[in-house]
Amino acid sequence: MNNGLALTPQMGWNSWNHFQCNINENLIKQTADAMVSSGLSAIGYKYINIDDCWGELKRDSKGNLVAKASTFPSGIKALSDYVHSKGLKLGIYSDAGTLTCSQTMPGSLGHEEQDAKTFASWGIDYLKYDNCQNTGTSPKERYPKMSRALINSGRSIFFSLCEWGQEDPATWAGAIGNSWRTTGDIRDNWQSMTMIADQNDRWASYARPGSWNDPDMLEVGNGGMTREEYRSHFSIWALAKAPLLIGCDLRSMDKVTYELLSNKEVIGVNQDKLGIQGKKIKKEGDLEVWAGPLSMKRVAVILWNRGSSTANITARWEDIGLDSSAIVNARDLWAHSTHSGVRKQLSALVEPHACKMYTLTRSKA
Ligand code: GLA
Repeated sequence: MNNGLALTPQMGWNSWNHFQCNINENLIKQTADAMVSSGLSAIGYKYINIDDCWGELKRDSKGNLVAKASTFPSGIKALSDYVHSKGLKLGIYSDAGTLTCSQTMPGSLGHEEQDAKTFASWGIDYLKYDNCQNTGTSPKERYPKMSRALINSGRSIFFSLCEWGQEDPATWAGAIGNSWRTTGDIRDNWQSMTMIADQNDRWASYARPGSWNDPDMLEVGNGGMTREEYRSHFSIWALAKAPLLIGCDLRSMDKVTYELLSNKEVIGVNQDKLGIQGKKIKKEGDLEVWAGPLSMKRVAVILWNRGSSTANITARWEDIGLDSSAIVNARDLWAHSTHSGVRKQLSALVEPHACKMYTLTRSKA
């Protein structure tokens, strides 16, 4: 969407994957604090996004949405002032239906202009717009209304469509939104994560600066996958130019989680200004090569072992868009080491459910 936002995929945090409806203003403030004190904001994580369950079930007498008095007693404007004072941005959630998915608060269907103005008046920077209780009408009718309302709101607001890939949003949502979900909800396990990676991959050619495929938020740090599985999750999301929205409790994040989420070299692939989504380019049984071009004629590559025994995986230059004569320096983004003068192909031994991730830079033609 041509609103000047999302020139690279959005980075931040969202409350849903870890907290679901157990949210309140103190949690949001403490998360903003942790985003800054951990150093994550300085490496690009800017959005603090409140998901479902922040509001009262009933609108006020003028039809306005209201923050839930028991959990957000200071109101959303005060919260956005706080989040902005930390140099961060605040996101909120609504639904293109009569109720949100939790059914604990109203959706914005039929109230698009009013709600967009409310969000703008609160200083909101990002709207995630869900698809529950949608009266059976097409998302192609319901989502453009909120897109227009946000443009008319007088504030620059990131628009994140969440219609779960139901009507192939990659084919139409780029004109009205900054990102669109391509799949159902992620779960904190290997099977869900890998299935979603594949479903999202189908739409790779539609991603571009301003408009990204969204395979849902990160589960890194929530405990349901191993360290290597989370490393694969984060690496593939980065290569696929997916939003990097952290979904764990930032206040109690352990060292391993921090190390995964803060890898600047991996994040650099995600935030590369060329903005081309990397994709699966080879599959032999459980052994996969994912790759995509980066700026300055570099190439990002992932060797991914989805099987249950350690195996050698090879990416040949002709498979990943390099001349067969190219001599490259291969930077290992997790080991932080460089192999110089690599010819013809890159091979590595990869453990089960693990991956290796590289950027390749031509040293000679
Ligand atoms: C849907 C969305 C989730 C989350 C919940 C909230 O399931 O896909 O990401 O926002 O609703 O109820």
